[in-house]
Amino acid sequence: MSRLAGKTALVTGGAQGQGAAEARAFAREGARVVIADVNSELGLAAAAEIGGDVQFMYLDVSLADSWKQTVATIDENYGRLDVLVNNAARYWTRPILEESDEALDAIIGVNLKGAFLGIRAVAPLMIASGGGSIINVSSTAGISGHAGHAAYGMTKWGIRGLTRVAAAELSPSRIRVNCLVPGAVTGPMLGVNIPDSDQRDPNRWTGLPLRRPGEPEEIAEGAVFLASNESSYITGTDLVLDGGATGTG
Ligand SMILES: NC(=O)c1ccc[n+]([C@@H]2O[C@H](COP(=O)([O-])OP(=O)(O)OC[C@H]3O[C@@H](n4cnc5c(N)ncnc54)[C@H](O)[C@@H]3O)[C@@H](O)[C@H]2O)c1
Repeated sequence: MSRLAGKTALVTGGAQGQGAAEARAFAREGARVVIADVNSELGLAAAAEIGGDVQFMYLDVSLADSWKQTVATIDENYGRLDVLVNNAARYWTRPILEESDEALDAIIGVNLKGAFLGIRAVAPLMIASGGGSIINVSSTAGISGHAGHAAYGMTKWGIRGLTRVAAAELSPSRIRVNCLVPGAVTGPMLGVNIPDSDQRDPNRWTGLPLRRPGEPEEIAEGAVFLASNESSYITGTDLVLDGGATGTG
């Protein structure tokens, strides 16, 4: 399949979970893929396992200089960038009254500021490439209020606002900006609240219309769609992949 043939894609937080699934799906569709993450060990392993034209680069999304270096290396290696997935994130649940200043700054730095820095860093190379697609990753915690999700949720609400502003600013440069909005998805992040062995237990999901969490590969198909020319008339909006969690009831 070649829905992304000729495109170069950068997936942050691509060492595991949804980011790794997106890197795999992009490679399957013919893209050259850069997996960028702070976890070099897992990132290198993911790139090697996927094979093909997939490369790992160290990137801390919360640091402007780290972005500068990554984009310069992509320009040097590939001479273009067509797709950015701002997927890297941190997650925990904690009541507002127990959240520390340091933890708050840390989660905003990665989840929200990290996405802003990414958009700002890649836009010039994308413009020079003739345009592109930026895919930010929010969450159902960014379209509703879940107790314990103040710090994480505010970053995910913020991502949806950033998406709309960036879409408005970058449309004239032929860059589309959209948001993936996953609900609960199996993997290490869901493991913060639900042990791996229980994540697919249908008894846990009786309140969800589809009666199960999403799989990283299902979110990745949404990313392929937003990255590809099939979504050429879509910008500044959300693609919700949540098993019916927010649209029903
Ligand atoms: N898993 C879920 O249930 C779920 C639900 C809704 C939204 N999401 C969102 O989907 C995205 C992917 O989630 P996941 O479940 O694959 O998460 P994950 O925890 O499995 O992976 C996150 C990745 O981000 C990387 N990362 C963390 N800090 C970084 C930094 N400073 N710079 C670069 N990389 C960094 C980690 O090393 C890791 O590889 C996230 O944006 C998350 O908020 C996840």
